[in-house]
Amino acid sequence: MTKERFGLSPTVPERLWTWFSAYAEDFVSRNPASGDMMALKKDHTRRVSRTALDIGRRLKLDLRELNLVEVTALLHDIGRFEQYERFRTFSDKISVNHALLGVSICRKENILHDVDEETAELILRVISYHNRAAVPADETPSCVFYSRLLRDSDKLDIWDVVLRSYENPSGIKNASLIHDLPDRLEISSVVIDSIRREAIVSTGDMRTLNDFKLFHMSWVFDINFRRTFEILRKRRYLERLRDSLKEKGAAEDAFLCVSRYCRQRLGGPECSVKRERGH
Ligand SMILES: [Fe+2]
Repeated sequence: MTKERFGLSPTVPERLWTWFSAYAEDFVSRNPASGDMMALKKDHTRRVSRTALDIGRRLKLDLRELNLVEVTALLHDIGRFEQYERFRTFSDKISVNHALLGVSICRKENILHDVDEETAELILRVISYHNRAAVPADETPSCVFYSRLLRDSDKLDIWDVVLRSYENPSGIKNASLIHDLPDRLEISSVVIDSIRREAIVSTGDMRTLNDFKLFHMSWVFDINFRRTFEILRKRRYLERLRDSLKEKGAAEDAFLCVSRYCRQRLGGPECSVKRERGH
């Protein structure tokens, strides 16, 4: 049986933004000292949502599909609030997987009560995959499509957040943002090799802050949509990452690899995974 494409009425994101504000406010009122960290995540959520809608419009999604995109973006980091309250960190490695925590919060709070079951399950799967190394290969095309859109939008904002912290002359204050890596000159050879192979740097290979910056450069290899590449170019994220690197020779080498890759993708076809009817 063929059913309509997945989508949501505009009342769902409207209701969920109200819920989101109250939910986030609750954490701030319980943890006034963590207000800045909570605000970081609130602002991130709003920007990711705006960017996801921008990419979605470029892909000519209809209004119901855009509402679905908005809901995945607004809920994707909902687990961050409880994670920070319980563990005082945003590092999943030393606390909890914030994406899975977010899914369990959505279920516990029954916040998707006015969404049909199939669409609600799709939203929860998209949230659960947003921080994985890759979207599972056996997922449905709809789930892969919405996951890719969210992951692109999330990366665009994370680039922004880390770059602002590097470019702030008063330096990096938030150690958990840079995974507590030492700000030393060297670059690990396995990291630069990954970039030459056009592969994402493995987080387990990072030894220094320079490696971490190259890890973020290598994210281009996991970008899906042309609009994302356009935004990346316009905001000069790769140039700014290169300029922030202390080891200039390797920085230029890596930059040439990633910028050549981006040029190829910008000149190539649009991501081939389409939303589907039903699943
Ligand atoms: Fe996240």
